[in-house]
Amino acid sequence: MKQAESHILVIFGASGDLTKRKLIPALLELEKQNLLPDQFAVLGVSRTNLTDEEFRQRMTEFLTGEDQKLVAKFLGRLYYQSISTAESYEYPVLKDRLFTIAKENSIPENFIFYLSTPPQLYEIIPKNLASVDLNKTDDGFRRLIVEKPFGTDLESAKELNKNLLHYFAEDQIYRIDHYLGKESVQNLLVTRFSNGIFEPIWNQNFIHHIEITSAESLGVENRGGYYDHSGAMRDMVQNHLLQLVGMVAMEPPVVVEADAIRNEVLKVFQSLRPIKEEEVDQYVIRGQYIESHIKGELVKGYRQEEGVDPESRTETFMAMKFFIDNWRWAGVPFYIRTGKKLPTRVTEVVIHFKKTPHHLFGNQYETEQTANQLVIRIQPDEGILLKFGMKVPGAGFRVQTVNMDFHYEDLADSHRLPAAYERLLLDCMQGDATLYSRGDAVEKAWDFVQPIMNAWQNNTDIPIYGYPAGTWGPDVADQLVEDGQWRYPCKNLSNDGTYCEL
Ligand code: BG6
Repeated sequence: MKQAESHILVIFGASGDLTKRKLIPALLELEKQNLLPDQFAVLGVSRTNLTDEEFRQRMTEFLTGEDQKLVAKFLGRLYYQSISTAESYEYPVLKDRLFTIAKENSIPENFIFYLSTPPQLYEIIPKNLASVDLNKTDDGFRRLIVEKPFGTDLESAKELNKNLLHYFAEDQIYRIDHYLGKESVQNLLVTRFSNGIFEPIWNQNFIHHIEITSAESLGVENRGGYYDHSGAMRDMVQNHLLQLVGMVAMEPPVVVEADAIRNEVLKVFQSLRPIKEEEVDQYVIRGQYIESHIKGELVKGYRQEEGVDPESRTETFMAMKFFIDNWRWAGVPFYIRTGKKLPTRVTEVVIHFKKTPHHLFGNQYETEQTANQLVIRIQPDEGILLKFGMKVPGAGFRVQTVNMDFHYEDLADSHRLPAAYERLLLDCMQGDATLYSRGDAVEKAWDFVQPIMNAWQNNTDIPIYGYPAGTWGPDVADQLVEDGQWRYPCKNLSNDGTYCEL
């Protein structure tokens, strides 16, 4: 990988959690890999009054155990400016500070602005940046990274796009979906398009259905206030899970470039068969975790969490079935499922192939007759597993399903898996938007989920099922899957009980 171009990264919301938990550690890692430019600085911006030194001190909290010489070098690149980001009169101060830091460190006037603030500021900050001409330049670059959530519904996402595009061009805007930064998500493309054996059978002729699960064992933790206005649909499905669908279902892009790939994702979203408001209860199941005991300990229900309305009808689980109406996927059901307080943390894509047309060994002999499955484990224990039938040694023709599996950790000696934010930050620094969502695709994804959210809001007869914390969600979710059932990846828990093995 090549080093990024010299620039200053301006992080709005620098006193927030994301900065110290994700962004600063990711930047340090890039420093370690020698991928940051020699001329580079980070300017943290937020309202809290801090000196540069105090900001550096705060940022060290998540850098323990790292090489102290490297940390010291890295911290020397951090600066801080306190302003009230909503007020345009503060921006000349910000601009002065930026140009001073650039001059002192011989950094060209290339700036990346990272919006890691509450979403209410996503429209104001770009406008204020534009008021002092920080949105454009004749040479070099000005880029804007926008964190999720990108809107709360179709209308607000459109409005946000419209406003951003008023001040920044589409090729300057980088909308984060951190799932696209995950190595194993990118590997979906490589698995599909660099192996001669998969792509010829990656279609409705050979695939029976596709299942995507993203389970979390954590609950809403200290984010009850945010989550209660969001729910699983806005928090996980509209963005992360649909992006996974895009990667699994898209046509081969013409080249591996931002627009070529994002055009294909958009086409998938354009082909999603709309679920009408009156069909929602047939295609979508929502649930909410209720109090239960996990390993003997009492665990709170969602409605008892801090910041959550005690009568909340926000979904902490959802499962849905849908179709992609195009040549490749006609008639193939897609199932996606996500939830909080499930038995473990696991994200995986499962391709269920069709059964053999004739069960040659089926009747005469004792046979485990299952269809082939390709399990693509996104996290943790990233890897790929193919399940296929093999003859049990001995008399007769008894067939048993066996696994052919690859674990990324087997590459661990020679390669480490970079964290999503490392990859995404570096890409933006290099001007590569391939792994960022494009405005039209974000809107299309909202367009697909909007009728479901409308139905939930307008029709109180649509049930929200309780499920005991620590279980796989409401049982009715099983009824969505025709001719089969969800894969329950946790039949084999790892020895320490924290994740399920492939
Ligand atoms: C975030 C959601 O976008 O993704 C969180 O807001 C969720 O609620 C998280 O926990 C999941 O990300 P990951 O990388 O842990 O699967």
